[in-house]
Amino acid sequence: MDLQEQLTKHLTDVHSIEEQALQQMVVAPRMAGDPELARAFREHIDETREQERRVRERLAARAADPSRVKDLAGRAGGIGMVIFARSQPDTPGKLVAHAYSYEHMEMAAYDLLALVAERAGDHETAEVARSIREQEAAMAGRLEAGFDRAVEASLREVDPSDLGEQLVRYLQDAHAIESQALQLLSAAPALAGDGDLRKAFEEHLEETRAQQAAVEARLSAHGARPSRFKSVLLRVGGLNLGGFFGAQPDTPLKLAGFAFAFEHLEVAAYEQLRRVAERAGDEETARLAERIAGEERAAAAAVRSCFEEAVDAALEQRGATASA
Ligand SMILES: [Fe+2]
Ligand SMILES: [Fe+2]
Ligand SMILES: [Fe+2]
Repeated sequence: MDLQEQLTKHLTDVHSIEEQALQQMVVAPRMAGDPELARAFREHIDETREQERRVRERLAARAADPSRVKDLAGRAGGIGMVIFARSQPDTPGKLVAHAYSYEHMEMAAYDLLALVAERAGDHETAEVARSIREQEAAMAGRLEAGFDRAVEASLREVDPSDLGEQLVRYLQDAHAIESQALQLLSAAPALAGDGDLRKAFEEHLEETRAQQAAVEARLSAHGARPSRFKSVLLRVGGLNLGGFFGAQPDTPLKLAGFAFAFEHLEVAAYEQLRRVAERAGDEETARLAERIAGEERAAAAAVRSCFEEAVDAALEQRGATASA
């Protein structure tokens, strides 16, 4: 596959991401449990429609069409996310956490698209990618500003005397997410090549073990234990990061983008855990959650700083295969 074909493939990938985004965005306002959050989602519907149109336009300019198969997979993934969030007792919190992660996946996808487009000499596509990326970043910012409201909406139905029980649930969710992170990070270095990306994954693997142990200690302090593996799949399996990265990211590029989105799922989980812990008067858990959220942000930034290198490595590899 040459560079031009590679760029067209990236465009069909982001097109399917927008198809999935649209599915999620259309139902999100009704699930948000809060008028401000609902408004943030509603405003992003029109933006997302426009993004889909602009990507389709760039495909047409390259004499290509969106991929029916990828778009279908994207739409199905969107429905999966909705079913998942609905099935959770804290629907608004889960919805906002997943949407926050999804916007970061879009940011990563457009960052990577811009880099590939630049290298392919298609400056117009690069420009479109950068401008859409800014819209996704702004939406992510609105969601981040809504973490308080999401927690508030999730806990509204809870009897204040049940707060301790809720806190244990949030700790169990955090523990489950770290299990998923360990799975991802154990496989990642082997797929990441030899550069800084590999180093970032290896360092974060160590950090992730310590995070999970610290969360488990807080569970013990509440006389509770991690939930079983089954519920890990149930809770985290709802995260469908779309056709672009797939269930098993198999290339350094997809892996880097997937990891960037995943770290932000963790950020959202710990930001919410911190708020629930504060309400429950558990200052130690609140402090821990704040610290780990910072570590997840730093890990995401470390992965992001490797995108350029990952794009060059991917294109080089393709060039080598093509000439072999
Ligand atoms: Fe989008
Ligand atoms: Fe978006
Ligand atoms: Fe992490």
